Amino acid sequence: MKKKILALLVLLVPSLGMASGGGFEPFKVDVDLHNKDSLRNGAKYFVNYCMGCHSLKYMMYQRMGDDLGLTKEQVEENLIFTGAKIGDYMTISMPEAQASEWFGTAPPDLTLVTRNRGADWLYTYLLTFYVDDSRPFGVNNLMFKDVGMPHVLWELQGLQKAVFEESTDEHGNKTRHFVRFEKISDGQLSDAEYEKAVRDLVAFLVYAGEPAKLVRYQLGVWVILFLLVLLVVSYALKKEYWKDVH
Ligand code: HEC
Repeated sequence: MKKKILALLVLLVPSLGMASGGGFEPFKVDVDLHNKDSLRNGAKYFVNYCMGCHSLKYMMYQRMGDDLGLTKEQVEENLIFTGAKIGDYMTISMPEAQASEWFGTAPPDLTLVTRNRGADWLYTYLLTFYVDDSRPFGVNNLMFKDVGMPHVLWELQGLQKAVFEESTDEHGNKTRHFVRFEKISDGQLSDAEYEKAVRDLVAFLVYAGEPAKLVRYQLGVWVILFLLVLLVVSYALKKEYWKDVH
């Protein structure tokens, strides 16, 4: 048994190393799915800044509105820019072939992105675009090397450059380590405001990846209440049964 566990650990360790991608660990993000304001804010950023290229094709506008506590009119006025109807799925009209031609890769549907990549990854991805003149859109990304996506939030965040340090190990292999960012130009938001905007956007995408989570949370409260009541009843019963035993 011990050997098996050891073998498993050995298997796991190199993959952990790889996941960190060049020694840069993603930032941690706490999203709060109970916070409807945060989810609504994230939805606003998503439809304004992402839906030009990315769909959420398993999500219906109506469902999103209901879950986020918005009326049909509020959704139609504030969150639908594509001429879609409230009962439609959140698809986009950019043809995939054309998108591949423009960006090198078609922008993927983002429904499952936080489940595939994780919330921390997405949060860090949106914070770590940096200027790189060798790239077609003038930016690169710490989490996604040579990414085909432009820094669509640059007006909010501003632009930053990344400082790297090169080191050589005993075998003569060169590796590049990220050291820090240096701001080149300010955006409309302060750093703290930008981080909050991105956190809200990530929260919205976590929700979109599993809308049933919101229902499950509500259900969870009832289950726990039920269990508590059951506990009280069982305890009373136990006392009753054992009363005469001693
Ligand atoms: C102008 C088009 C465009 C817009 C707008 C855009 N993206 Fe992208 N995005 C792309 C393209 C193209 C790719 C594919 C990049 C690649 O594979 O190199 C991509 C990839 C991604 C990925 C990586 C997906 C994966 O797992 O491979 C994420 C995450 C992402 N985009 C999030 C966003 C978010 C969030 C927004 C809104 C803030 C957004 N994108 C806005 C074009 C866009």
